[in-house]
Amino acid sequence: MAVQISPSILSADFARLADEAAAVPNADWLHVDVMDNHFVPNLTLGLPVVDSLLKATSIPLDCHLMIEDPDRWAPAYAEAGAGSVTIHAEAAKAPIRTLRELRSLGARAGLALNPGTAIEPYEGLLGEVDMLLLMTVEPGFGGQKFLDLVLPKLRRARQLIDRHGGDIWLQVDGGVTADTIERCADAGADVFVAGSAVYDSPDPIAAINTLRTKATR
Ligand code: DX5
Ligand code: ZN
Repeated sequence: MAVQISPSILSADFARLADEAAAVPNADWLHVDVMDNHFVPNLTLGLPVVDSLLKATSIPLDCHLMIEDPDRWAPAYAEAGAGSVTIHAEAAKAPIRTLRELRSLGARAGLALNPGTAIEPYEGLLGEVDMLLLMTVEPGFGGQKFLDLVLPKLRRARQLIDRHGGDIWLQVDGGVTADTIERCADAGADVFVAGSAVYDSPDPIAAINTLRTKATR
């Protein structure tokens, strides 16, 4: 399993996003948290900013949509050129149709589950996804404390993915730091989102290198 690090620009300076993308040249992805003030109690950015970011960086964008009605809004992110688009299982009314549309538009299709959402009901959707995202905080804000209670679910997700076969990535997002990333890797995650651990560091490149080393077993 190749370890991938996806720094979240939620903890970056929104007035200097091009510079903040340039500050993490060793990132595999740039994680873009789209929040609509409805699905989560916070408002961030949307398609116009994603369009601009796509022009400003060659790092592929990992768009995490924390929004209501992703069936309606998600395909436009794939159309714009995001490399990966993740919708929340709790918000999607027609996840199969939407995940298929994302793939047909050339993006990797991701399905995200909040900490309190069980994975078993979604086992049947594994054939429709390129990545499963397990939230390790309640979505909405950066800098929250990692929820260890998600680790057993992460282990079950790894088992389900291995049993299913195919190339499905297992991403964790929320409270991932140099202190918690090894636990996530041990439980089977292979794509690691880190916001404050990268952008609150005086040396984001070194922070990514540290995370990558700790996650690599
Ligand atoms: C939270 C977002 C995360 C956030 C993570 O709802 O989805 O991507 O940026 O930030 P940290 O790594 O600081 O917990
Ligand atoms: Zn996120």
